[in-house]
Amino acid sequence: MKILVTGGAGFIGSHTVVELVHAGFEPIIVDNFSNSDLSIVGKIQEITGRKISFYQIDCKLDDHLEPIFLENPEIEGVIHFAAYKAVGESVSEPEKYYHNNIASLTCVCRMMKKYGVNKFVFSSSCTVYGNPEVIPVNEKAPIKEALNPYAHTKQLAEEILFGLCQYNQDLEVVILRYFNPIGAHESGLIGELPIGVPNNLVPYITQTAAGWRDSLVVFGKDYSTADGTCIRDFIHVEDLAKAHLKALMWKNPESNLEVFNIGSGVGHSVQSLIDIFINETGIDFPVKYGERRPGDIPAIFASAEKALGLLNWKTERTLEEALRHAWNWQQTLEKTE
Ligand code: UD1
Repeated sequence: MKILVTGGAGFIGSHTVVELVHAGFEPIIVDNFSNSDLSIVGKIQEITGRKISFYQIDCKLDDHLEPIFLENPEIEGVIHFAAYKAVGESVSEPEKYYHNNIASLTCVCRMMKKYGVNKFVFSSSCTVYGNPEVIPVNEKAPIKEALNPYAHTKQLAEEILFGLCQYNQDLEVVILRYFNPIGAHESGLIGELPIGVPNNLVPYITQTAAGWRDSLVVFGKDYSTADGTCIRDFIHVEDLAKAHLKALMWKNPESNLEVFNIGSGVGHSVQSLIDIFINETGIDFPVKYGERRPGDIPAIFASAEKALGLLNWKTERTLEEALRHAWNWQQTLEKTE
């Protein structure tokens, strides 16, 4: 079965492509390499031993996307990762975020309609919950006012999909709300490739451990959590990738849209993550404690029960493995900035 994977050379996309191949699907990667690298396609081929079709195009442009549907009439589903995801950048360049993240979604959906493709898996985020009143947060929790334009594009995208599903009963959509994906492929061949100075915690930790950065700054040690640092639900990217396969196979005769949290169901503090990293790798590195980062919420982790009950999906990898794999991956990289 041919599956179009937009953003298929990115962090989560590349791991999902590997899992798709392992499960017997035929993924087609679409990527403009704005936040990834062509070399990743070769690495995916190395891991899977298979030639992977890929197109370097911008999926918010009809004339880029349409030829792919014409050339591949067997496409039966789309997994849509392609989006900008840097929270800070979305605040300084909101126009870029709204345009890219919404236009790519609507363009892909229009092409799907035109070429009779109905299965759609969307890459959403726990950020849609804002600062939740109850944790673990489940899928019924209210969607709060977005904390930044990135988060707002995820909320808007979900709304658009709800609307499309209401008026197009043939469409079958699964929305996956990811918690904090970390780690890298166990082969050490693919992983996260942050451009410039990373914003996210784990790439910052690995780059500091590698000596690329002077020190890690923990944003806030005065939260009302056990050790004063924020709590997140960190999930190994390989587990997350596998959730997309379950989502692709999901069928509910009652409803053509379903939303799932994809997290471990367990919260870990930023401090405990640092401690586990040091313990696992034996690499110590300088840590400073700074101000809270604007927009950060104190604590969030998933109720992952719905995904277990309906998709039969749960995390299998440990946090220790995720951090070891992230470190293995880091050691293969060369400093750019
Ligand atoms: C954010 C987004 C999330 C998105 C994810 C990946 C929000 C609220 N969250 O998650 O939707 O999927 O990015 O792009 O929009 N930290 C430090 N020092 C650092 C970096 C991070 O202490 O140098 C702390 C942060 O304050 C936070 C935790 O580590 O408490 C995790 O941060 P990060 O990895 O950036 O992810 P989130 O902000 O949770």
